[in-house]
Amino acid sequence: MQLEKTIAGVKAQVQIWKKEGLSVGLVPTMGYLHEGHRSLIDRAVRENDRVVVSVFINPIQFGPTEDLESYPRDLEADCRLCEDAGAALVFSPEADEMYAPDFSTYVDMHRVSEELCGKSRPIHFRGVCTVVSKLFNIVTPDRAYFGEKDAQQLAVIRRMVRDLNMNLQIVGCPIVREADGLAKSSRNTYLSAEERKAALVLSRAVQTGKSMILDGEKDGDKILAAMKEIIQQEPLAKIDYVEMVKWDTIEVHHKVDGPVLTAMAVYIGKTRLIDNFIIEE
Ligand code: PAJ
Repeated sequence: MQLEKTIAGVKAQVQIWKKEGLSVGLVPTMGYLHEGHRSLIDRAVRENDRVVVSVFINPIQFGPTEDLESYPRDLEADCRLCEDAGAALVFSPEADEMYAPDFSTYVDMHRVSEELCGKSRPIHFRGVCTVVSKLFNIVTPDRAYFGEKDAQQLAVIRRMVRDLNMNLQIVGCPIVREADGLAKSSRNTYLSAEERKAALVLSRAVQTGKSMILDGEKDGDKILAAMKEIIQQEPLAKIDYVEMVKWDTIEVHHKVDGPVLTAMAVYIGKTRLIDNFIIEE
């Protein structure tokens, strides 16, 4: 497996593969890879001749008070995981390789990016759309893989690809969880032992909401109230949002009468965690 730090190096390699008629899959990540990322890479390896994993902590998607500096990193371990999974190339550029000092072009989305995480992280999706567009231009993949763990991000990327006529397929992959239900996340490493236990309120709320819907409940207000009650019982948890939206447009919609996403962001101590479930119907 090849480790590339430069855009030119990636482009040259991809050009060789394309000349050979090989298909290319891309898995964009910020590194500190775990089994959630691994599930995306495994699927990409099954569906493409060559797989590129990008490992890049994208500064422009972090707000000024967020965890850019402390975000966990371990490129060596990431490369081992990628090699083991059968990826062909890891692209891990420095920030100045991706952003010239006078960088001035952004992909800015409205509506789909404005609810849920968009409310508390106003510049986040502009940063995500911009870096993902750049990665698509650099790697020119046939398919790119995103996790439902970041469900709004997946909806935003699908909308960007549709709106800007980007020539690739977006593949959504299910959430991978720890044995006790906590959604796997690089940010789980921030949790103390006590917080790690408290964090289970997120997946418990997800389970409760999901069972209510499977039992026939259609009233979003009732479902959200039950979920909030579970979270509020945990003293270490502070709700950022618990919300139900239409799955494709991310518009607030408190009725289960079509595909809906029920999503939450909850602070456990200082760490902001997200979880969700999707009812496709
Ligand atoms: P990161 O948080 O590293 O996640 C990379 C990809 O892995 C995302 O598509 C995310 O949804 C997926 N993922 C993370 N945890 C998962 C889990 N438990 N189960 C399934 N998939 C999971 O998301 C980003 O990076 C960045 O915003 C990025 C898209 C790379 C742009 O910078």
